Amino acid sequence: MKTTRKEFITQGLYGGLALTGVTALMSACAWARRGSIRNEQESMPRGLLSGEGAEILRYASLAPSGHNTQPWKIKAVSPEEWILCADHSRRLPAVDPENRELLLSLGAFLENLSIAAGSLGYAADIRITARTPQDTEIARISIRRGTARPYPLERLSRRSTVKQGFLDRELSGADVRYLSESLQGHFAYFPKGSRHARCISEGTAEAFRAQAMRDDGQRELVQWLRLSSGHARRRMDGLTTESMGMTGIAGWAVRTFMDPEDFLTPANRQRGIDMTSRLTSEGAGWIIITGYPGGVAGIIETGRRFQRMALLARERMIAIHPMTQMLEEPSGRQALAVNHSGNVDPQFILRVGYLDRYPEPVSLRRPVSWFVERG
Ligand SMILES: Cc1cc2nc3c(=O)[nH]c(=O)nc-3n(C[C@H](O)[C@H](O)[C@H](O)COP(=O)(O)O)c2cc1C
Repeated sequence: MKTTRKEFITQGLYGGLALTGVTALMSACAWARRGSIRNEQESMPRGLLSGEGAEILRYASLAPSGHNTQPWKIKAVSPEEWILCADHSRRLPAVDPENRELLLSLGAFLENLSIAAGSLGYAADIRITARTPQDTEIARISIRRGTARPYPLERLSRRSTVKQGFLDRELSGADVRYLSESLQGHFAYFPKGSRHARCISEGTAEAFRAQAMRDDGQRELVQWLRLSSGHARRRMDGLTTESMGMTGIAGWAVRTFMDPEDFLTPANRQRGIDMTSRLTSEGAGWIIITGYPGGVAGIIETGRRFQRMALLARERMIAIHPMTQMLEEPSGRQALAVNHSGNVDPQFILRVGYLDRYPEPVSLRRPVSWFVERG
């Protein structure tokens, strides 16, 4: 156990510890982040995918997912015929028992896949086959040569979830219209200071507190923490200090002195609650995305359109931070139901804000060969 020193450091870092000379040491450490790791030579079985097929799937895998679980698996029936499956070993039963967020993440994956295919001169024909949220098979995908649909693919590589550094300025009317383009009738922006925005800030802080105190939720989070560089490189998924927004000395101290299990102590749960509560009051306000009809297909469609919006937001220097605890905790869902009419079906609660500088993406991704198998 790294206890006494660890207690000292964690107390200090949450309180704003100043360590002279540590910055140089930190930057000397080779830390696991997306840009610093070249995925090892892909060991793809022969004939499984074409080079461009693998490239399309690499772009697809840059999609966001809850806790960065990357819950996708591809069965390649042939190089052009794929089956998208939910990888249920990557479910989050404590916070997402109905697989709602898992399906939203698969929707974002399909959106990236479709954009990348179009841009590389292919058409991706996607047929949703899942009938219940528990189904393993989600969609059948055919890739055919088609007319190129140009799209700046660097947008897919440059998007990331940003949690810190939000400016207080409200979103301009033009940017709200731009972001809502793909979500007509399913998009609402509540500027900071509005009554709804205050309700969402308070409700999110409260739901986060409830979740942090719930042992199963916190233990599940711990399973997806990748604090050491070695752990991160072995798994290439989950949450690193940087992807959780712990940068600089704070991130270095957590990586160096803490084990994932330390997140279970009452003191550290409280620190997480305090940090989140501060974050909920930063930024331009909140966006709520409501769901599309059609059961499983509707949830997947919502994930696709959310992703389209997130890619646009990157271009306007707007940070998007999903904070889903109100949808995950009974107290949060109840608060939403009281404040909104019964027929609203919120699927995403997003804190938004302009940034001065949009950071490089840091969250890890598994190489394509890790999630593709012969169908
Ligand atoms: C359905 C869904 C729910 C999410 N919920 C949260 C959340 O409650 N809190 C949070 O900080 N990030 C949340 N995220 C963001 C993920 O943690 C993030 O996408 C993942 O770590 C990968 O990082 P990236 O988006 O920068 O690529 C969510 C993402 C998705 C798709």
